[in-house]
Amino acid sequence: APPVVVAIDGPSGTGKSSTSKAVAAQLALSYLDTGAQYRAITWWMVSNGIDLEDPSAIAAVAGKPEIVSGTDPGNPTITVDGMDVAGPIRTQEVTAKVSAVSAVQEVRTRITELQRALAGSAERGIVVEGRDIGTTVLPDADLKVFLTASPEARAARRSGELKGSDVHSTREALLKRDAADSSRTASPLAKAADAVEVDTTELTLAQVIECVVTLVQEKQ
Ligand code: C5P
Repeated sequence: APPVVVAIDGPSGTGKSSTSKAVAAQLALSYLDTGAQYRAITWWMVSNGIDLEDPSAIAAVAGKPEIVSGTDPGNPTITVDGMDVAGPIRTQEVTAKVSAVSAVQEVRTRITELQRALAGSAERGIVVEGRDIGTTVLPDADLKVFLTASPEARAARRSGELKGSDVHSTREALLKRDAADSSRTASPLAKAADAVEVDTTELTLAQVIECVVTLVQEKQ
């Protein structure tokens, strides 16, 4: 069978990562977490003291760090200049700053190239999750899914994942990040015209996985 390319987009807390990993594992496809790539470049900029208030400072160094993503859904790795950053990219500091970095066109051009190369080299196909995969990165994907959920459901899921955080502050931070990601000029978070929208508010993770697996199988 020819490789199948699946784009899964949506705001934070909709279950994109859990769903994408499980679908890829179940169908023996590769997996790419594009948010991890933007987090990795943000981590590098924070570590190197780049002024994130200054888009031209960000643009000037966008090509410097070498970012490598492993595409095994059972063990999705990410390194920056050879260093494992899977832990450090999940801190609240990186989470709060990633939208400023991902809004810069030079960063997006660079990361988009990496994404297209990985998608093109996946022999059986790939599940790619992010914000602009269906609209910009892989406009010819075989299947595009746009996951949504109510703000309450998304905040509850996120504060469940982050131990010690309360639902209220998680909700504020999450809505702020989504607003920034949706309103930027460079490839904002958006549903592609030909994407299938799945509202996960009332669904269990298992139900969302089953729904997306069925949609992929219809395309295979
Ligand atoms: O998915 P995750 O929450 O890890 O994404 C982190 C951030 O990376 C998003 O808030 C967004 O700013 C950026 N991102 C993006 N385009 C993508 C994936 C993520 O701009 N395709």
